Amino acid sequence: MEKKDVYDIIFKRKSIRKYKLNSLDENTLKGIEDEVSGLKPLIPGIKTDILLISSEDVKTRMMKKAPHYLAVFSEEKEGYLTNVGYMLQQMDLLFSANGIGCCWQGIPTIKDRVQDRSDLKFVILLAFGEPDETLHRSDLSEFKRKSMDKITDIPVADDNRNILEAARLAPSATNSQAWFLSGDRESIDVYSVKPNFIRSLVAKKYIPIDAGILIYHVVAAAKHMNKDPEIVFKENVEKKGYTYHATINLKS
Ligand SMILES: Cc1cc2nc3c(=O)[nH]c(=O)nc-3n(C[C@H](O)[C@H](O)[C@H](O)COP(=O)(O)O)c2cc1C
Repeated sequence: MEKKDVYDIIFKRKSIRKYKLNSLDENTLKGIEDEVSGLKPLIPGIKTDILLISSEDVKTRMMKKAPHYLAVFSEEKEGYLTNVGYMLQQMDLLFSANGIGCCWQGIPTIKDRVQDRSDLKFVILLAFGEPDETLHRSDLSEFKRKSMDKITDIPVADDNRNILEAARLAPSATNSQAWFLSGDRESIDVYSVKPNFIRSLVAKKYIPIDAGILIYHVVAAAKHMNKDPEIVFKENVEKKGYTYHATINLKS
């Protein structure tokens, strides 16, 4: 895993669903385990386990197999799903930067013997392996995403355009893009649209994960722009129809 600057990958990554089923070599797998152990949490107080497992350890539930998966387990503390989104998106971008395909997998789950390896609650899988399809998008138009005005009311200017664009391109479960960004050029409040009752049955778990993914894209882009992003969790933030997740202060 040599390439570490993932900013440009935000603008070309895609979910990979077709893999060559051969295992990646030992050296690469060791490198992946090293990266996993160095992932930065969004909320440092929450314990997580991230295990490298194979397709034999996964109930794929109709999804195409991948040779490898990262299985994430977490303590169930406030914000734990957003924390998982933030951590695992670091791997999504790193994989893509280093020629490895990957895809978040909400539908598949783990076999019981994998749960025996962690005392924490199983959250989600990230499939990965050698891609058997094109790894990157060649043009921004290939992203199916909402337009900027649908996801934010922050005025877009030269100094925040790339940061907001990195947020807009974040992947989300079923591509729901249910986030909303409010604030100004120095500070971004991250919300998600509250789902209706029917949608909440499916989406409840994924919406906070999606928020964590988006927060990581904003942080990676802001760092690339030589800013020093700071994440804070404000108390008692109310916005009708939305759930508040976090605020990213973009200090220069
Ligand atoms: C939390 C989460 C769960 C997902 N679960 C699945 C899944 O079970 N199966 C699948 O094929 N894709 C899954 N995806 C991938 C999304 O469908 C994909 O990210 C979205 O359609 C945007 O496409 P892109 O990643 O190619 O940009 C998931 C994505 C996220 C963020």
